[in-house]
Amino acid sequence: MEIKSNSFGYTKSDEEVIKYTLYNDNNSSISILNYGGIITSIMVPDKNGNIENVVLGFDSIKDYEEKSPYFGSLVGRVAGRVSNASFKIDGSTYNLAANNNSNSLHGGIKGFDKVIWNVTEIVEKDTVSISLNYLSKDGEEGYPGNLDVNVTYSFNNNNELEIHYNAKTDKKTVVNMTNHSYFNLSGNGKRDILEQYLQINADSYCPVDKEIMPIEISDVKNTPFDFRQIKLVGQDIKIDDVQLQIVGGGYDHPFILNDKENIAAIMHDKESGRYMEVVTDQKALVFYACNQLDSGIELSSNIISKKHIALCLETQYYPDAINQEFFESKFLCPNETYKAYTKFSFKVK
Ligand code: BGC
Repeated sequence: MEIKSNSFGYTKSDEEVIKYTLYNDNNSSISILNYGGIITSIMVPDKNGNIENVVLGFDSIKDYEEKSPYFGSLVGRVAGRVSNASFKIDGSTYNLAANNNSNSLHGGIKGFDKVIWNVTEIVEKDTVSISLNYLSKDGEEGYPGNLDVNVTYSFNNNNELEIHYNAKTDKKTVVNMTNHSYFNLSGNGKRDILEQYLQINADSYCPVDKEIMPIEISDVKNTPFDFRQIKLVGQDIKIDDVQLQIVGGGYDHPFILNDKENIAAIMHDKESGRYMEVVTDQKALVFYACNQLDSGIELSSNIISKKHIALCLETQYYPDAINQEFFESKFLCPNETYKAYTKFSFKVK
């Protein structure tokens, strides 16, 4: 178990970016930046032991600052969209920047994905971790309360990546964090995700409007959104369905995870044998199939971006819960701790 760190360059505001690479004893590794808590690569074996990258990333900080659609980032304070970029807590209205049509997306203009985090390295017998800390000031991006955030990324000898999120506030607020990794299990983006398999243990999902805001909770039965049995991502994606079309031809929807299931989602690339299990204590998962990704951008591991080159499985509390009556709002109050947990296990099958 080992952590290596090296400089990844400087941001436009001249802050040094450090890349931490967490190695386990199997030569698998995960690289993470102190900028945005960004996972830049996840190097895990296929069925023949070939270690390759299974996430999208860039080789330079400049590309992350200028072009990144949240590749691998920590997203907060609130992941997803807050409708009309505003919400109320106990009668007070809080206004956020509308950075996605009339809505606020992924924490605002300078969310947790664009700040420098303080990093502590932890090396144990079977686990290597880094703990990231960031103090988001009262009023930052319009959100109330000084929010002290800790995120720990741990990688162990079973090729499991665990993410623990933790936050405390001094004023009643909202928090809903996620990690925005773009997965492609073929290794170095050899095949797109339409040829890879996905299971999501969700009996229901949220149809969305044209601004990708959830409008209701619906049964997945008899829809292209039924991923309860593992199926090819591409199996139903071309079906003439208004919900697939409204988000640009594919999936960009919250799924309501079944409580009874331990595993939230499974992704499998049969050709390489790589198999990923997602376990979380969160209520929802946003499945985004890269419908909106710009084409032709050079990414790391010699991957060229295009539609459906990867997929995101964003575990989180219900999106826009603060504004949607069909979801219970969840607040963080002083003297409470926000906690969230997600584990991505990389196996071969
Ligand atoms: C959203 C997409 C968005 C993507 C990149 C996802 O979480 O649901 O609509 O295009 O993030 O910003």
